[in-house]
Amino acid sequence: MIRFYFGIFLIISVVNADIYFHFPPGSNNRVNERTANRANAQNAFDSQNNNKGGYNVPDATNQAYGTNSSLQYYLKFFQSGATGKTILRFVWTNQHGCGGNEETNPTKQTCDLILQYMCQDGDINENDLDKFRNGVETSPQTYTPEKTSDAAGKLADVKTTRRLHESWNYYDRCHNRERNKGLFIADQTLQGNTAIYTRQDSAGTKYGYECPEERDYWPYISPWADIAILTSNTSRCSFYQQESFNVKPRHDCIETRNGIRTSTKFNNEVNCTSQGGKWLLLYSYLEKAPGYTTQVSCEKASSSRYQYKWAIPHDTITVKEECLVLHPQQDLSCLQAPWSRSNYLGLKSDAEPLSYDWTIPSFPSNKIKRCIARIRYNISTFDYDLYNINSTSNGKVKSPVKNDPVVIVDDGIQLQINLNTDQTGRTFQDRTHIFEILPRPNGINDNENIYNWNMLGKRGNIVQTYPAVEYDFTPRNLQINRNDLIHIQWSGSNTHHNEGNSDGQAGADGQGEEGTDRSNLVEIRNRDENYPYPYEQTTFWKNVKVRWSPMDKSNDNIRKDDLALYFASSGYYRCQRAVDCTGINNLYTVETQTTKLDSLLKKAPASFEGALLQANPGTYHMMCTRNNNFSNRAQKGTLIVT
Ligand SMILES: *[C@@H]1O[C@H](CO)[C@@H](O)[C@H](O)[C@H]1NC(C)=O
Ligand SMILES: *[C@@H]1O[C@H](CO)[C@@H](O)[C@H](O)[C@H]1NC(C)=O
Ligand SMILES: *[C@@H]1O[C@H](CO)[C@@H](O)[C@H](O)[C@H]1NC(C)=O
Ligand SMILES: *[C@@H]1O[C@H](CO)[C@@H](O)[C@H](O)[C@H]1NC(C)=O
Ligand SMILES: *[C@@H]1O[C@H](CO)[C@@H](O)[C@H](O)[C@H]1NC(C)=O
Ligand SMILES: *[C@@H]1O[C@H](CO)[C@@H](O)[C@H](O)[C@H]1NC(C)=O
Repeated sequence: MIRFYFGIFLIISVVNADIYFHFPPGSNNRVNERTANRANAQNAFDSQNNNKGGYNVPDATNQAYGTNSSLQYYLKFFQSGATGKTILRFVWTNQHGCGGNEETNPTKQTCDLILQYMCQDGDINENDLDKFRNGVETSPQTYTPEKTSDAAGKLADVKTTRRLHESWNYYDRCHNRERNKGLFIADQTLQGNTAIYTRQDSAGTKYGYECPEERDYWPYISPWADIAILTSNTSRCSFYQQESFNVKPRHDCIETRNGIRTSTKFNNEVNCTSQGGKWLLLYSYLEKAPGYTTQVSCEKASSSRYQYKWAIPHDTITVKEECLVLHPQQDLSCLQAPWSRSNYLGLKSDAEPLSYDWTIPSFPSNKIKRCIARIRYNISTFDYDLYNINSTSNGKVKSPVKNDPVVIVDDGIQLQINLNTDQTGRTFQDRTHIFEILPRPNGINDNENIYNWNMLGKRGNIVQTYPAVEYDFTPRNLQINRNDLIHIQWSGSNTHHNEGNSDGQAGADGQGEEGTDRSNLVEIRNRDENYPYPYEQTTFWKNVKVRWSPMDKSNDNIRKDDLALYFASSGYYRCQRAVDCTGINNLYTVETQTTKLDSLLKKAPASFEGALLQANPGTYHMMCTRNNNFSNRAQKGTLIVT
């Protein structure tokens, strides 16, 4: 019989886990390295993931973008309409499990998955130092604390060749602001007193311009807007939905120099105002509406869909009110986390991927947005009351958990519990590369639903890609209504060589040019077959209408056989005959292309903008000819239109 001596609950928590986005592809801090392991874990954010895993920045062409960021590909998604939704399915794997019914199938930890995004306007100036960038090199942005002025420091630090998500000013404020001393830090000794030092990052290590205190805690004044919280305990949902920074503005201390906001030491009202700072309410926002320049005109623009608010934005520099469109309340959902088991980077219990269907926001400005999404995976032990614990339990004596304690469960035997107090509540993270949210094209109505149908995975066999995944369609089965639209698109890289220094087998097995991702889409009769239909026997292409395509021609002028050719060649060809493709399209015909497409798509671009299609009812099976290799890899998907 086991006796408990110290009144310690022996709930052992294995705190080593990872989270990886698979669609849209997550970077895990990768840029374009040809190695299996990422080159720099501090590139932009603290993932706490293993070094292997993640996807390189997509290439727009059949060449690696090298040092030219204009040759990177941004996945493109159309925004939602007034009533028509655009659905983007986020797909990920989380290693330690989540979800589960406490009564019949308890989880081994309590957890939350928090999906977030941030956007900026697509027309931001190329030289703007706040412009989001994927980077063309793997080194992180630098930060120099001793600076003559904020502007000089920012100019000296920010490199346009490196990944940039959060802004320099945001990190500068985090670096100088006193940390929240009410937080539980267990028995950890933090090496400093500002918000860059946390229980999980006691040394204040810098990851891009991410603020460690923001990273580890929620809610927080942050550039990230909440999309969804998937939790093991849905009784906390009303708390999350009320406390989200999306809907609840927060006070912050604002100090200025020559009228321009600068960083401050103070994080509470008393210290702030007694030292000449202003304690102001800051707002998160869907977007700014700079066309409205007075409170009256701004707030009059409110409708049943959007609340316009004359207020100070969280990222203010001028410390003046601006016209903000607030996040609609329904933009934040809180649900039971999908059930997944511990010690496994894989599927949920119904053998489908862990996923969340995001209804992409609708921006009233109808502007192009550049965006990044992030998934945070928060796991905690139940060795203490994690919802109420605070700084009164800090320190070697009072902390309810200690590093690797030795416990006595029976006389004469001492057992070590493996537990790091910097990890007993732990956050993992992954982020996408930059993607774009576009206004709906002409002819697409506000009440039409758009479903994104994409490819996931990267180059390599099952061992080499791990913990990423091999190529497949996402969703594998897409079921929609005849009135709905399908947006087919894929992205890939030319630098997935996965060489050397891996945690497993290195290399890039697969078909076609070494290290390259390619996809295409052809129709097959059944999913257990591998020969595609010749065009004459296809049903899909004859049953679809093109509602939008990036081809510079009227949707009505696209021949059905040319549409099939466009998808089968990943956009290398747009037409068979030169006469059917005029203008810019004339470069992309079987008759005019001087080098013909090879059978393994080496010459085709790695990423493909696709088209927006509408199909008649039917069941359509699809395959990618290049990566599908019977007995090795099945890249097949099915569209069911009812
Ligand atoms: C980068 O790529 C763009 C797009 O193809 C091209 O216009 C530009 O000339 C390239 N820049 C350099 C420096 O090669
Ligand atoms: C994640 O964990 C941190 C630290 O335990 C906690 O402050 C935060 O509220 C959690 N976030 C969510 C959404 O549960
Ligand atoms: C779930 O959350 C509620 C509300 O915060 C809390 O009272 C309860 O203890 C939690 N249950 C579990 C199993 O975490
Ligand atoms: C602000 O005030 C608190 C007490 O409320 C104090 O503990 C803290 O050190 C002060 N911070 C600064 C930066 O002065
Ligand atoms: C910290 O937790 C203790 C015990 O739950 C509670 O009495 C106290 O009010 C809390 N302190 C703060 C600052 O929240
Ligand atoms: C299909 O995969 C197998 C196993 O990796 C490989 O031996 C074979 O060469 C592949 N087929 C082609 C055409 O690449």
